[in-house]
Amino acid sequence: MSPPTATAAEDITLSLKTTNLNDVSDQGKEILVDLTKGKPVGGYAPFAHLLPAPTLARYKKYGIDTSKGYPEAPPQAGIPTFVDEAYAVRNKDFPYIERGKNADPEKKSLFGAATEVRHLTKHIGTEIVGLQLQALTDQQRDELALLIAERVVVFFRDQDLSPQKQLELGEYYGQVEKHPQAVHVPGLEGITIIWPEYLHQVGVKNTFKQVKYTARWHTDLVHEHQPAGITHLHNDTIPEVGGDTVWSSGYAAYDKLSPALQEFLDGKTAIYISAHTYFDRNDPLNGKKHVEREHPIIRTHPATGWKSLYVNRSMTDRIVGLEPGESAVILEYLFGVFEKNLDIQVRFNWKPTKPGLGTSALWDNRISQHNAVWDYENTEPRHGTRVTSLAELPYFDPESKSQRQSLGLSLD
Ligand SMILES: [Fe+2]
Repeated sequence: MSPPTATAAEDITLSLKTTNLNDVSDQGKEILVDLTKGKPVGGYAPFAHLLPAPTLARYKKYGIDTSKGYPEAPPQAGIPTFVDEAYAVRNKDFPYIERGKNADPEKKSLFGAATEVRHLTKHIGTEIVGLQLQALTDQQRDELALLIAERVVVFFRDQDLSPQKQLELGEYYGQVEKHPQAVHVPGLEGITIIWPEYLHQVGVKNTFKQVKYTARWHTDLVHEHQPAGITHLHNDTIPEVGGDTVWSSGYAAYDKLSPALQEFLDGKTAIYISAHTYFDRNDPLNGKKHVEREHPIIRTHPATGWKSLYVNRSMTDRIVGLEPGESAVILEYLFGVFEKNLDIQVRFNWKPTKPGLGTSALWDNRISQHNAVWDYENTEPRHGTRVTSLAELPYFDPESKSQRQSLGLSLD
């Protein structure tokens, strides 16, 4: 199967901009683009005046300075040109503490402080009402990590959340990913921006017929040596209608497979590719290459001990050990399990109940895929800040059980 070109992911969309900044008309900001080379040199983009009012109010309240411009781009010096440089960004083991592992299974501290805990579907998605994320104790944070590991994605509406506290929570959950190409909140490199208007400004022309980068099934950062665990997206500006996001459960996808196919996949590995491409230093004229890393196709979650199917259409390229045609057929089937089974998905509308407040979603990339709905067509503003915590080196424990096995649910 040929690798997907470009990318799809909502998360990577905002990193595409750096290669397009020289297409921006009327910017006149020498700090942004080195016109001699036509490459971005980092600094501030000139779009602060386009920021929606709720975002501006949040930034003003929490001391985020947009006077120099918005968003901020990382310096060009840090952007990999060659694929070996991209591998080197993070190529070694680093410590990871699974916060959900020793949490109270009953989550008394977290649930006791909430006014309501609402399971949105049987198998995936829980909304917690009446709690502010920035006020959680460490005990509640641990219990939330376990809840995310069990329910795949957890939502909090009506949040008054500072970018600084969002970053701090992400650091609690693991090493925060800092992307050498992604634009971020000024002064806070670990908080990337989800802002369709920015993409529009830098030349990404989505139409309702063709959405280039957002509306595809994907999992964040699967090509990392230690891929993404929890992603926390906080939308501070939300369309009146639409702009939903959909998640699909990797636990439940695994349980959908026949025992024979489960047995075939258990212990196998696949190749996962990066969204971005880079030149091969030894073969620079033969096109750009993805970063590729090999991970278990069925992985065990360290907090729940449950098996999860770990593939996605955008970034899982091939199953190791199979002929290309065999791999393509099996992967296509596995992608379809996530994408076609509505009973293992949750579709969430982000709208808060109180004006001026934002909504947060925290999901676990080890056990899910997601897909952003673009039905609002950027006719209304949508803006969010996102922090991704990297997790453990993926592993498959042959002794681990599926979610349904572990919960004692019917396997027929
Ligand atoms: Fe994403």
